[in-house]
Order: sequence, then C-alpha cells, then structure tokens
Amino acid sequence: MQTIITTTDRISATDNLIFLVTDSKNLPEKYFSKEEYAYVKTSQKKHKKNTFVFNHFKRWIFVQFVEKERNTALRLENYRVAGAKLLGSLNNNKLHTVVVVDTEEKPKETLAFAEGMALANYQFLKYKNNPAEKLNTLNTVELFSKGISDKEVDNLNIVIDGTCKCRDLVNEPLAYLNAVKFAEEFEKMGKAADAKVEIFNKKKIETLKMGGLLAVNKGSVDPPTFSIVEWKPKNPINNKPYIFVGKGVVFDTGGMNVKTADYMNNMKCDMAGGAAVASAVYAIARAALPVHVIAIVPATDNRVDGNAYVNGDIITMHDGTKVEVINTDAEGRMILADALSYAKKYEPHLVIDVATLTGSAVRAIGKYGIVGMHSKAENEFKQLRKSGETVCERLAEFPFWKDYEDLIKSEVGDIKNIGGVEGGAITAGKFLEHFTDYPFIHLDIAGPAFNEKSYKYFPAGGSGVAVRLLFDFIKSKISG
Ligand code: BES
Ligand code: MG
Ligand code: ZN
Repeated sequence: MQTIITTTDRISATDNLIFLVTDSKNLPEKYFSKEEYAYVKTSQKKHKKNTFVFNHFKRWIFVQFVEKERNTALRLENYRVAGAKLLGSLNNNKLHTVVVVDTEEKPKETLAFAEGMALANYQFLKYKNNPAEKLNTLNTVELFSKGISDKEVDNLNIVIDGTCKCRDLVNEPLAYLNAVKFAEEFEKMGKAADAKVEIFNKKKIETLKMGGLLAVNKGSVDPPTFSIVEWKPKNPINNKPYIFVGKGVVFDTGGMNVKTADYMNNMKCDMAGGAAVASAVYAIARAALPVHVIAIVPATDNRVDGNAYVNGDIITMHDGTKVEVINTDAEGRMILADALSYAKKYEPHLVIDVATLTGSAVRAIGKYGIVGMHSKAENEFKQLRKSGETVCERLAEFPFWKDYEDLIKSEVGDIKNIGGVEGGAITAGKFLEHFTDYPFIHLDIAGPAFNEKSYKYFPAGGSGVAVRLLFDFIKSKISG
C-alpha cells in the first residue's frame, strides 16, 4: 500500500504532529506543557537528543531535530534519513496519519522528510501468510507548510509510486517473474500510465536476429521478451527521444560459468535495471512530463542447461558483430548489446543504460552510488550527475579511455565478452559502447540495486535505484 502525501492548511486538536526543527528557538510553545518544552530544549542542547515523543492522549506529538547543513543536496538527504528514522516510532504506535509541521519555512526539506518516510514505509508482503499482521499502519502524511505546490506533491507521490513499483518487481522471485511475466507487468503499467507498450516475443526476436539475447536464453525453459515502453506526449520539448535501456536478467545463475557459494543468492535482482527504466517511464508518463522518452528492456533468465550457450561460442549479434563468449556469466552485456543497437533506429538524443552489470562496480564503490561512464555525452552526464546529487543516487564517474577497448579484442571474433581482471566495470562499459553510435551513458547499479539489510530509507530488498534519478533528470529538462 502506498503512503499518500498531501498538504493541509489547518491543524486540528486531534492531529498527530511532527515538528521539524533545526533550532529549538523555532519550536512553537503552545503545543507543549512548560515541562515538556524545557525538557526538549535542554536535552537537545546538552545531550544532543534529536527525537522526542509525547503522548498527549488525544494525539501524539513528535519533535524531530535535523542537523544544520549548508550543502543543499546533503541537507535534503539529512531530511530523508530523519523521516525514515522517525517512521519506526509512528508505526510502533500504530498511527495512521500524521501532520508534518514545517516550523522554519523550509518547503523542500519538508518534502524530502515526507519522501524519506514514504520510501521507508514500503513493504513487500505478497508472500506473507498473514500480511495484515505485519502491515505498517501509517498511510497518510500531511504537510503543513507554506510554499509547497500541488504539482510538487503530485510529482513526489508519482515518483515514489514508481520507485515502489520497481521494488515490487525486483523483490519478485523467478518462480513468479520470468521474462514473459516481466513484460506483462510492463503492459499493466503502460495501461495505468497511458504509455504505449510493445512486446516482442521469441519469434520476433529471432526475426530481428538478436543473437545476444537468444544466446543467453538458450539455457532457459522460458522464452525471452523484448519490451518497449514509450511515452510520447502531444507537444514534447524534444524531437529526438531520450532512451533508457535496462538489463532484464530475471535470474542470473551464471550459466555454464555457474555462480558458486552464495554469489547466486540475490540474483533475482538482476533485472533491477529493466525494472527501473520501465518504472521511470511509467512515472514520467503519469506525471505527463512533456518529454518523449522510451524504455527498452531485453529480458531472459541465464541458466545452466543441456542446450545453454557455452564458452567459445561465437555469437552474431543484432548489428552483425561477432562476439566470442569467454564467460557465460557476462550475460548482461550480451542482451543489452542487442537493445543498444536496436535503439539506433530511433536516432536518439541520448541513450542511458541501467544495469546490475558487474561485481567489479560493487567492489569499487559498494552500495553507496552508481558507477557511470559516458561517450559523446559530456553535458548530459553533468546534468545527470546533478540529478544524482539532488535525489542522492550519486554517480561516480569511471574513466572511459580508449585503452580499455584493447582488452576486449578477440582472436577469433570481433570482440570478446569479457576483458581481464583489470577495470572489469569499464571493459563491460566498453563492450556496450561498441554497439552505440549516439550520445551514450552507461550506469552500473550492481552496488545499490539490492540491500540485504534495511539501510536509510531502503527496506531490505530491491531499492528502486535509478527511478528517482531518471525522473529528476527528465524533469530538469523542462524546468530549465
Ligand atoms: N549480474 C552479475 C553482476 C552482479 C554482481 C550484480 C553482484 C549484482 C551484484 C553479472 O551478470 C555478472 O555475473 N558479472 C560478472 C562478470 C564477469 C564474468 C566478467 C562479475 O561481475 O563477476
Ligand atoms: Mg552474470
Ligand atoms: Zn547478470
């Protein structure tokens, strides 16, 4: 169930309240007893206590201090994290609604606080026998603040919904979400958002000679799919589309290079890029942003089977490139390559691919950010990086020098599907770049896509990373 954020211009005597403050002098006296008021002030100053909870019988009153911070991006993140932290005590006390009081006229921060609460309030209860027992009670967050527009609140609800849709898809196991089901989910989302969805089945994929996607699919009992989710508004600001390509490996066993020990454990998340790009376009369409955007998601599982593709196979890709397979676990780039060369037909303004592509990216920066590379897209990358700071889905730029191309040259084919041990995230990016001729940004989300344990405003499981990023990026195109 989604947490709904609204605005309100009055506070009733029974509303549960959260006072958001950085400085105790801004805390209004009239809601507290003398003792409470004095207690808040001294405990905050002396003991750096930041959260206060008072049960007034008719209602609950919370005081949440947030550290002062001059940097806007860091400050907004402090508010999101504070919202996520306080959420636990609202649910523990079985509250359904709460009013957040912006005591310091900080509308953006108040929105960020609500965003943190709503993102943290997400639950995936589909596979609980008694979901009602576990269900968080909080369902509505009202904002008492000057300077928040209805549009801002609408967009925030929409992008949170998109992020939660993405998380749902990532959290679904393969037993439910195979490539066909994945595409059907996009169809449902397209209907709900008025976006056009086209799905290619195996036959069509064969006709299009998408050798990479078909090779990875050879070991599967389920057919592959290739989905296109398109939002084309009446008067778009762009005449060439922005295209987002997402990796849709619904489960990655590694194939013949089968993953050992617990490396296979969370590999249901290997479609997180595909889920993110489709959810971003879904959100952009629901918000009716006047920008032409397209998500493309090639999807299959990567399995071990008698007929699975093997090392040494040479695959003719959609664009004719001959790829030598050195490692069947480097499957993401095989399926993405076909989608990237297919994207050429749109003459895109920019293509961004989003993929849980390499362990190398995880080892380099962990779950704290997205590994990014780009070619012919200097300015767009700068703007995307700015969106990354704004929503705290930060980009770490990796070098993308030509030298890395040498590492994927093949003796028998044109290129091989892995480089060496050095710069694994980058050689993967270089492999993808081979199939592009347009401005291109590659985002490796293997680190932040999935959390084993809850973290900040991310409950354990799929994080929904890149939905808020892409939404903000496209939104920034229209607001200047
Ligand atoms: N899906 C994995 C990458 C991954 C690792 C995602 C950890 C999320 C968390 C990808 O398909 C993969 O197996 N990559 C290999 C590439 C290697 C064979 C060159 C890897 O990183 O080990
Ligand atoms: Mg793999
Ligand atoms: Zn993979």
